[in-house]
Amino acid sequence: MTANQLYPARSHAKRTAATLKDLAKTPGSDVSPADAEAAHLYLASPALELWPYSDQNVPFRQNRYFNYLTGAYDLAGGHVIYDVANDKLTLYLPPIDEDDVMWSGLPMSPEEAQKKYDVDEVKYEKEVEKDVASAQAVLSIEKSQKFAFVRASETFKEALDETRLIKDDFELSLMRKASAITDNSHMAVMSALPIETNEGHIHAEFVYHAMRQGSKFTAYDPICCSGSDCGTLHYVRNDQELDDKLLVLIDAGAEWQTYASDVTRTFPINGEWTKESRAIYDAVADMQKQSMGAVKPGVQWEDLHILTHRLLVEHFLKLGIFKNGTVDEIMDSRISTAFYPHGLGHTLGMDTHDTAGRANYEDPDVMLRYLRIRRTLKEGMMVTVEPGIYFNHFLIDPVLKDAQRAKYIDTDVLDKYWAVGGVRIEDDVLVTKDGYENFTKITSDADEIAKIVKKGIEKGRNHFHNVV
Ligand code: GLY
Ligand code: MN
Ligand code: MN
Repeated sequence: MTANQLYPARSHAKRTAATLKDLAKTPGSDVSPADAEAAHLYLASPALELWPYSDQNVPFRQNRYFNYLTGAYDLAGGHVIYDVANDKLTLYLPPIDEDDVMWSGLPMSPEEAQKKYDVDEVKYEKEVEKDVASAQAVLSIEKSQKFAFVRASETFKEALDETRLIKDDFELSLMRKASAITDNSHMAVMSALPIETNEGHIHAEFVYHAMRQGSKFTAYDPICCSGSDCGTLHYVRNDQELDDKLLVLIDAGAEWQTYASDVTRTFPINGEWTKESRAIYDAVADMQKQSMGAVKPGVQWEDLHILTHRLLVEHFLKLGIFKNGTVDEIMDSRISTAFYPHGLGHTLGMDTHDTAGRANYEDPDVMLRYLRIRRTLKEGMMVTVEPGIYFNHFLIDPVLKDAQRAKYIDTDVLDKYWAVGGVRIEDDVLVTKDGYENFTKITSDADEIAKIVKKGIEKGRNHFHNVV
């Protein structure tokens, strides 16, 4: 990406139309091949909204699909139409609200928008109806609140989702930027234990460093937990004292122009792993290393997920947490899902949990039910690789009460591990032609992490003494 290159909206529109034409030929499509050839593809961006009974704005977040076809990540109340037959992309600006100009200044003019965005033409909203008056079909992903002639189409939405799955170089450059900001922010968190005595401080430190680097939002609410809180997968309370707990887990990612990063690191609060916390960390690191190492086009994601469960079982047998069974028997019992209940990863893009993973949340197999990717990897996909191991009573106690499954668990050994809470290591990975590229550069090496934490503690004793 060079500085003057624009977000490739026209290429996205063209690729989406091509995907739509393909999908229109498949059984069950709600768009006929003829309509796909001649469609006008329509999307709207959300209007600015106020909090209930307040004059303060809800922070504006662009509709991801609208962004995909415009690159206008900060434009509220706009419309976009792609005329498939004529390969013409038109952006429509909202009408100027005279009353608002005094408070907010003049909005972007069509001439400014034309320079800023990769579209063929920019007009105002009042032109929309006239422009589609003779259209064969005006397709969108939902009904329009403004225009009755717009038809909601699942097939068009699927076309957008499938097209979004494969990232182009421009999108990857935005994701590299988000990743670099995230790396620096995780490094800052790991190095600042003297001023982090509460989960909220971990959260604040990450956001402070991400914002200083220009990231306006985090991609999702950061998960900052310590000790047994880490057994809660999407913990967002972020308000407990670290005290003398063993580990901190921080799952946080910066966003760059609506593109996400999603990274988790786990580290010992005092810079020292215990025997148990290190054993669990090493097991997760092995699960991540082996699954990531196998990422390449043509690989079925479920196979990598199952591989990580097998590795968990092997490690637990070695540690003595599991007993009385072979790896296969214990795999068949599915008890590993009580310690590793989520999927190995998900697609990543504008959304943290991005499109086209084809999850099946109804799957009767609990090992696959929460897996957000159920497909073969293709070059250009961005995915997270994020195995974890958690010691959560809510998940494990039912297994301990069921004799059939409890026989595989040595509770005396397990009791030594509850204090570990949870460990997850999460990196963001591009599927390349021959393998993968890891966008996440912040170290996940256990020894290096301990060194960084300790160095921060030593250096920070004097440096941070005035901070409250
Ligand atoms: N940050 C949420 C996730 O890792 O999926
Ligand atoms: Mn994730
Ligand atoms: Mn995450």
